[in-house]
Amino acid sequence: MNQELFTAVDQYIDALFAPEDEALTATVRSLEAEGIPQISVSPNQGQMLHLFALQCKAEKILEIGTLGGYSTIWLARALPRHGRLITLEIDPKHAEVARQNIANAGIGEKVDIRVGNALDLLQQLEAEGAGPFDLVFIDADKPPYAEYFESALRLSRPGALIIADNVVREGQVIDPDNPDERVIGVRRFNKMLAENPRVCATIIQTVGAKGYDGMALAYVKP
Ligand SMILES: C[S@@+](CC[C@H](N)C(=O)[O-])C[C@H]1O[C@@H](n2cnc3c(N)ncnc32)[C@H](O)[C@@H]1O
Repeated sequence: MNQELFTAVDQYIDALFAPEDEALTATVRSLEAEGIPQISVSPNQGQMLHLFALQCKAEKILEIGTLGGYSTIWLARALPRHGRLITLEIDPKHAEVARQNIANAGIGEKVDIRVGNALDLLQQLEAEGAGPFDLVFIDADKPPYAEYFESALRLSRPGALIIADNVVREGQVIDPDNPDERVIGVRRFNKMLAENPRVCATIIQTVGAKGYDGMALAYVKP
């Protein structure tokens, strides 16, 4: 792998298609300042999420895994004035940093950050009838990805798009004997996704500044 080249090409694409404004650069800086891992999506992945949200005319978006709100900002900026995004985060410190970053981006009134374990919060969302969502972005801990997807599917409208990040894991995903619980979780999710007749799905391999990984895309059949 040529990580240097992937990073340089990512920077080239970012400069053309996904230049960060002050709110996004401040979000990246806030992670560093608070000692939070720099595991947000890259700028052009953020732009890709934004593009998908525009393409499915999303008015309601659900995100699982907020971190500092970087992907949240890219996604929420695709919403119309009355649009809403709910994002789920287990770590109260991440949620607080995200709240500040989202307010700084001027979209605080569109974004509802819920703090807790995503499995519990998803159950609550289903119970309160919070759906249907037009787009769901899954980007939290990997072992329960299959459960996140099943809940996302119940919360999605026909024609919705469900996206899940980090499903290739530098190619480790092809090893059935890999003992890493994240790889096991992602392999279980990928297989379940492939076999689910309610969606038309695939996985796109991704390379760039964030290394070698992949995103799963699932269209919820009408
Ligand atoms: C990869 S980061 C999310 C990055 C973010 N989507 C972005 O691109 O800016 C994963 C986040 O999921 C959170 N998380 C991990 N396990 C979780 C769980 N069980 N429920 C909710 N959030 C969880 C982590 O605390 C972390 O902030």
